[in-house]
Amino acid sequence: MGSACSGAPVGVASTLSHPMLLLTGATGLVGSHVLRLLTAQGAPVRVLVRDPRRLGAERVRVQIALGDLADPDSFRHALRGVDTVVHLAATVRDQPVGTIEDLNGAATWRMARAAERAGVGHFVLYSAIGAAAWHPARFFRSKALAERVLRESGLRHTILAPSLVYAPGDRWMKVLHGLSLLPVMPMPGRGRAAFQPMWAEDAAAATLAVLADPPEPGARIELAGPETLTHRQIVGLALRSFGRRRPILPVPAPVVRASLRAAAAVGGAAFATWEEAELLEHSMLARDGASGVQRLGVEPRSVAEVLGG
Ligand SMILES: NC(=O)c1ccc[n+]([C@@H]2O[C@H](COP(=O)([O-])OP(=O)(O)OC[C@H]3O[C@@H](n4cnc5c(N)ncnc54)[C@H](OP(=O)(O)O)[C@@H]3O)[C@@H](O)[C@H]2O)c1
Repeated sequence: MGSACSGAPVGVASTLSHPMLLLTGATGLVGSHVLRLLTAQGAPVRVLVRDPRRLGAERVRVQIALGDLADPDSFRHALRGVDTVVHLAATVRDQPVGTIEDLNGAATWRMARAAERAGVGHFVLYSAIGAAAWHPARFFRSKALAERVLRESGLRHTILAPSLVYAPGDRWMKVLHGLSLLPVMPMPGRGRAAFQPMWAEDAAAATLAVLADPPEPGARIELAGPETLTHRQIVGLALRSFGRRRPILPVPAPVVRASLRAAAAVGGAAFATWEEAELLEHSMLARDGASGVQRLGVEPRSVAEVLGG
């Protein structure tokens, strides 16, 4: 797979006064918010992306390094002259180029090694609350591996571990909106898992705070919103924001698993894979609630404030 750097020239003055930052996952939910805040500050940013068109208007404000988590050669090009890495790119589903474990775990190892060689001074990794080597879900195990890679590296690093992150109109909210057109609102599982939902804008503000004033080396900061809500309660708030009253119908996990796996097996355009749906079965609660974010100077907003309704 080839790789290249292109995109808008970065302003000379800012290039001289600020070192280059590499952002991966800039086209994603959190990454697009982080990117907007960075470019608004005039920070020189390079993004490692598969498809620059997905950057929208921001693509003219950044340096673009074409690359893929499955292509370690692209990391070397992307890291040239970089002082800080914000590594957000990750996946919740297997891709043709690699499994969840390859793209979240092994790719972080390769990225960290390349960053060490490039002399990166601060590596910020997005993990997840609940990441653990023994976790039943592959995503959380792959994130535990990514964290371990950084702990065992010689890199100065910060790990940011969010609870569920959301934004109005994000992919999950679009799925919920589509389902809300049905006479009953199907919900995978019993909806009992609990989360402290974090608005992507607040997660991005916390990320910028960590970049501006890096915490002690090796810090792991949990990013959690101000309230604890079950999956069912979040679906209820989403329904209210869509202006729809619907009874919520829990669909037993084995039924969800069988249907999503069958859809994947026949190559159907399933809106979600079992691995994605399974994530909503596992609580993601911070040890000390929103205080990790608040210590960074960010007052996270509640779901009702963000979604309205
Ligand atoms: N959202 C949550 O609730 C949540 C919870 C806990 C932890 N996290 C973690 O927080 C971080 C940001 O999450 P997010 O919700 O913003 O994720 P997201 O919206 O799913 O975005 C994922 C990003 O990774 C990129 N990506 C995926 N596969 C890639 C590959 N093979 N090569 C290069 N880039 C690739 C995507 O690029 P394309 O645009 O090309 O697909 C996209 O920019 C991730 O590390 C995630 O695991 C998220």
